Amino acid sequence: MSKAIRDELKQEVAKRRTFAIISHPDAGKTTLTEKLLLYGGAIHIAGSVKARKAARHATSDWMEIEKQRGISVTSSVMQFQYAGKNVNILDTPGHQDFSEDTYRTLTAADSAVMLIDVAKGVEAQTIKLFQVCRKRGIPIFTFINKLDREGQNPFELLEEIERVLGIRSVPMNWPIGMGRELCGVYDRMKKQVELFQGNDHSTIEVRPAADYNDPAIREMAGDYLADQLAQDLELLDVAGDPFDYEKVRAGELTPVFFGSAVNNFGVQTFLENFLQLAPAPTSRRTTDGEVEPDDEKFSGYIFKIQANMNPAHRDRIAFLRICSGKFERGMSVKHVRAGKDIKLSQPQQFLAQDRDIVDTAYPGDIIGLFDPGIFRIGDSLAQGANLTFDELPTFSPEIFAKVSVKNALKQKQYLKGLDQLTEEGMVQVFRSIGPFEDTYLGVVGQLQFDVFEYRMKNEYGVDIQLARTQFQFARWIVADKLDASKFRINSTLVKDKNDNNVALFENEYAMRTAVERMPDVKFLETAP
Ligand code: G4P
Repeated sequence: MSKAIRDELKQEVAKRRTFAIISHPDAGKTTLTEKLLLYGGAIHIAGSVKARKAARHATSDWMEIEKQRGISVTSSVMQFQYAGKNVNILDTPGHQDFSEDTYRTLTAADSAVMLIDVAKGVEAQTIKLFQVCRKRGIPIFTFINKLDREGQNPFELLEEIERVLGIRSVPMNWPIGMGRELCGVYDRMKKQVELFQGNDHSTIEVRPAADYNDPAIREMAGDYLADQLAQDLELLDVAGDPFDYEKVRAGELTPVFFGSAVNNFGVQTFLENFLQLAPAPTSRRTTDGEVEPDDEKFSGYIFKIQANMNPAHRDRIAFLRICSGKFERGMSVKHVRAGKDIKLSQPQQFLAQDRDIVDTAYPGDIIGLFDPGIFRIGDSLAQGANLTFDELPTFSPEIFAKVSVKNALKQKQYLKGLDQLTEEGMVQVFRSIGPFEDTYLGVVGQLQFDVFEYRMKNEYGVDIQLARTQFQFARWIVADKLDASKFRINSTLVKDKNDNNVALFENEYAMRTAVERMPDVKFLETAP
């Protein structure tokens, strides 16, 4: 490889920060995203992301579900530049009924920002998303939001993070007061204070401080809060975890920042520290060994396919995470699964829902490819290689429904829709073995059913019937010999779309009994 290209790649890779914000609904993800975009100059008016959220509802039709439920079903990618870094934020839907889509999007991130409401602490959805990030071993940064409201004691919050999530934490800054008394934060690393000024706290003043005992803090915060701060930080210095960069990189220690997104308080410090500490794109595993981001040959994989973003054209967009090499518009790459060369001619880059044509892009970037139906989730595209990325986990569905078509005359469209939507990764499909060919759908979140039903009707003109079943667990079965009669009570045997045997169980007891009774059979959570 020419030195010039390698240098260019190294430089561009070093600039990239690609991350996702994980949180429970209402923790303030939209607000924080918007503030970050404002710093990057990617948007100029506060409220634009929210407005886009609303505008999207007005323009896109299958997103009607979003409108009805006031949630964002699909995730998008936002890019901006700040302090010499190219930042990509992957937007993961934050509603309760999230889907496999959410999980898959996390595979495209190199780090995650965990947003926590100071009053509510670690909530259900945060836990689930955290676990996916944990599995990948990516660094996780924590932003504790809504400090302008009365919340839990910061020590209790840290304790909760460690207890519930099992990750050690290191506070990078510390609140001076909270709620109505909030007057600032003390930055432990930079040794400076950020103080709210003015009656309405509208200005923020940053002052260097010798340490947390600096008289300037006492002068501005008063004796009570200054004493409290000194006491807290002494305790942290003695009993808290020290900052350890290696542990942060390994996802074993989370740097914690306190702030208030809506007041823009602590956001800039957070952004600057985050950009410094978060990793640039690193190597990724493939069937062909590790691929380094500065490898000359382009490669990437599709982690998400979104249908019908523009209802005027019934197109699909495949989201590709670039893992190595330089992307150039019009380049030819190998579509590894299809075994064909394809030309990438209409690539798009995203800012919220705007799409721009992109000419070049680098590892860490996400581009959208026009998909005339040739891509599947997990597909790898590579220049001159047959590698496949080993990134996309499939998830064990937890909710199951029997699906059937209401009007038998629509059988053909129904099968087509079922085929295409399962290919997209919308739902997982299972077929019963035996005289009655029942079809089951399995999902991670109820919302996937709703979207599936909606899209079957709107895109394929098919009314379907979904009957929820009692099943709660799916286990892929690997066995030399299988005795179907053993799967009768509170369970059933089905085939997945690749003809693998899968057992569905109604409860944990049934599953455990089956596992105990069949020691020679392997029960896997996902497809082998
Ligand atoms: P989400 O995307 O995570 O669901 O949360 P979003 O940003 O929409 O924020 C949820 C609510 O929390 C919003 O209030 C938002 O203004 C508020 N919020 C965000 N950050 C802070 C903060 O630092 N302090 C306080 N006090 N509130 C915060 P809302 O009433 O639901 O909407 P809006 O009418 O204010 O837009």
